[in-house]
Amino acid sequence: MNSSALLSAILHAVMRGQPKAISDSYYPGFHLAPVTGLLNDPNGFIHFAGRYHLFYQWNALGCQHQHKCWGHWSSGDLVHWKHEPIALMPDEEYDRSGCYSGSAVDNSGVLTLLYTGNVKFDDGSRTAWQCLAVQNEAGGFDKLGPVIPLPVGYTGHVRDPKVWQHAGQWYMVLGAQNNRKQGTVLLLRSADLLHWRNLGEIAGSGLNGLKDAGYMWECPDMFTLDDTTFLICCPQGITREEHRFLNAHPCTWTGGDLDYAAASYAHGSLNELDAGFEFYAPQTTLSADGRRLLIGWMGVPDGEEMRQPTIANGWIHQMTCVRQLETREGRILQRPVAELKALRGEEYHFQGRAAEAPLISAQRLEILIAAQGKITLDFSDTLQLEWHEEGLRLARRSLESGEWQYRYWRGAVSHLQILCDHSSVEIFINDGEGVMSSRYFPAQAAQLTLIGDAEVEARYWPLRHTVIE
Ligand code: FRU
Repeated sequence: MNSSALLSAILHAVMRGQPKAISDSYYPGFHLAPVTGLLNDPNGFIHFAGRYHLFYQWNALGCQHQHKCWGHWSSGDLVHWKHEPIALMPDEEYDRSGCYSGSAVDNSGVLTLLYTGNVKFDDGSRTAWQCLAVQNEAGGFDKLGPVIPLPVGYTGHVRDPKVWQHAGQWYMVLGAQNNRKQGTVLLLRSADLLHWRNLGEIAGSGLNGLKDAGYMWECPDMFTLDDTTFLICCPQGITREEHRFLNAHPCTWTGGDLDYAAASYAHGSLNELDAGFEFYAPQTTLSADGRRLLIGWMGVPDGEEMRQPTIANGWIHQMTCVRQLETREGRILQRPVAELKALRGEEYHFQGRAAEAPLISAQRLEILIAAQGKITLDFSDTLQLEWHEEGLRLARRSLESGEWQYRYWRGAVSHLQILCDHSSVEIFINDGEGVMSSRYFPAQAAQLTLIGDAEVEARYWPLRHTVIE
């Protein structure tokens, strides 16, 4: 579609779709979601010139994975967001099948986007270009076109550039599939964002001690925190285990040392970043005061996503809350960013036997809860969290078959911090040693019931509603 036809179709879709989407009882009250159509990966997360910017994969025209644009929001405080002009649309030959995921950098005061131009051919094959766009005076973005063609030795699955600066150079990690159908991550270097040198594979299937680790690694993100260099990535095709990697596609982290000169990365094993039913393609950035922040897509591709009931109201998916990353003994901890405390209403407190706790409205709720012994947290008979000695088991019925499905977090749990929105929960375990993020679709406004004889202590707050302005 040419850009004016596409823009007119998007405008029409938003005019018709927005009222229906935002009045859906499942539409989030404080998480980011599309005003119509489909949202997937967060893109271009950055603090730039005094504001946070978050872009997102967006199909305004429907709830399928098509016509991917970059939508754009900004915020002064990570709590209140406003709409910005649409940033990228798939209107050039080199991005005609979608402006796929990527990142944003501050290039000497110019907000600059690096993204994947995806091109699908009629015979089912595809290619990918890594492209550049720079912000203009009107707040929109001017495309500068491709800067990296498909590297030799790779299939058309090369995408999702994440770029950062180190010692005066730009570095990029790219998700890729090589011709042997192995998922890998490429490291590239540039002095000017225009001319890039491919330094080779730094992680992936069959590398650095990993055996078979899947056929495609998507959405890599690399950063150093407390002297460890972490790689977050979504390796597609890794083996399911009894208690881990149970989603259609997982999101993992590993930590180690990146040798920039040798372009080699010595790292440990792959760990699940979030053990819930929905979490994928997160992106990190630095806050104004140097904290490492993360936001993820509370969805997973290729699973049961197309069964979600919100599709009837013309929208699908939401983001996670913004989280702050910290480390403990080389492991990543995730916690809701402190700014979110601004959403808290009046504080409530309960101490006693779980079964004697009041019914708590879980529509928009933050609860801190500590328990001695076995309890179950029941969310409107639709989602259940069993908390016992070995850890947590989260249960939900399949939207497809109606069968119960489970996700696990193994280890001693002393306390939880849970953020509930109209159709989601994010369960932070201990001090963020683990997280379980999940969507769920209760028949009525969600309520939390505590079940069991164990002693619990809880503090909780109803959370304020925010709207994207
Ligand atoms: C991950 C992903 C990315 C791609 C984008 C397209 O969810 O498949 O690899 O760039 O979504 O929307």
